Amino acid sequence: MSDSELVERTPTGNKHLDEMMEGGPLNGSVTLVVGAPGTGKTCLGLEFISRGVEMGEPGLIVTFEHFPKKLLRDAASLGFDLQEMEREGKLRILFTSPEIFFEQAQTPGGLLDTMVQELGARRIFIDSISHLERLARDPVRLREVAFTFINALLRHGLTALVTQEDPDITGDMTAAQYGISYLVDAVIILRYVELDSSVSRAILVLKQRASSHDKSIREFRVTERGIVIGEPFADREGVLSGLPRRKEIDAFMEVFGKKARSAGKGEVD
Ligand SMILES: Nc1ncnc2c1ncn2[C@@H]1O[C@H](COP(=O)(O)OP(=O)(O)OP(=O)(O)O)[C@@H](O)[C@H]1O
Ligand SMILES: [Mg+2]
Repeated sequence: MSDSELVERTPTGNKHLDEMMEGGPLNGSVTLVVGAPGTGKTCLGLEFISRGVEMGEPGLIVTFEHFPKKLLRDAASLGFDLQEMEREGKLRILFTSPEIFFEQAQTPGGLLDTMVQELGARRIFIDSISHLERLARDPVRLREVAFTFINALLRHGLTALVTQEDPDITGDMTAAQYGISYLVDAVIILRYVELDSSVSRAILVLKQRASSHDKSIREFRVTERGIVIGEPFADREGVLSGLPRRKEIDAFMEVFGKKARSAGKGEVD
């Protein structure tokens, strides 16, 4: 039995993501999903909650930006019926302000306590933690706010998926903004990648505490069946820069390999 099988996991339910995470996030852990607008952060969170419900784990969605109606519509386009899950008492959607949620999450017997208890929630999806920036300007204070917030989630033993906006569409990683990436157990990066004059999406498990994980950067698509993760960008480098180059060795082989083959056949190039 491998080390990863000795620890309890909460599979996201997305087969390929779980494979990348050696079985999925650890129970009671916090996973941060960082990405530019439209990369698929909300879709990933909706899938995590919906597949959890399908596997018998009630879930809570806390959104600071989308009206529940929009979430229902987005989830339906991915093949998940949140309304039905709510009717069955397996899901609650809370649309609130970061100020109220932050205060309530720290209050014993507050809104979070009550909802988690009533629902028997095992998972929580928070969209997005970037809104906490409204609560403090100073980076040190902001880090304290994030720390308190994450601890409030951990106190309930929930397995959490939290999104964070990355202001860069492509380019350098900014997951370390005011240190949230240090506070969480796992970090997933979603990126746009310009490839041969079209835009693809890339996914990477940047870190996963107390566990090994897939280190490759994979292509993914958002589809009517949820997030579909494909093959690694095997012959490219600099994928996270958003402008990958073909690996020099491949480019070399293409040019010189062709010449060598042509020469072998006696062709003139
Ligand atoms: N059913 C679907 N089929 C194909 N693509 C879809 C589907 N649903 C969503 N998408 C794609 O996913 C994108 C939006 O994903 P999502 O809302 O999860 O992004 P986000 O990272 O949360 O963005 P934001 O930061 O603006 O909240 C859309 O732009 C669309 O391209
Ligand atoms: Mg979103």
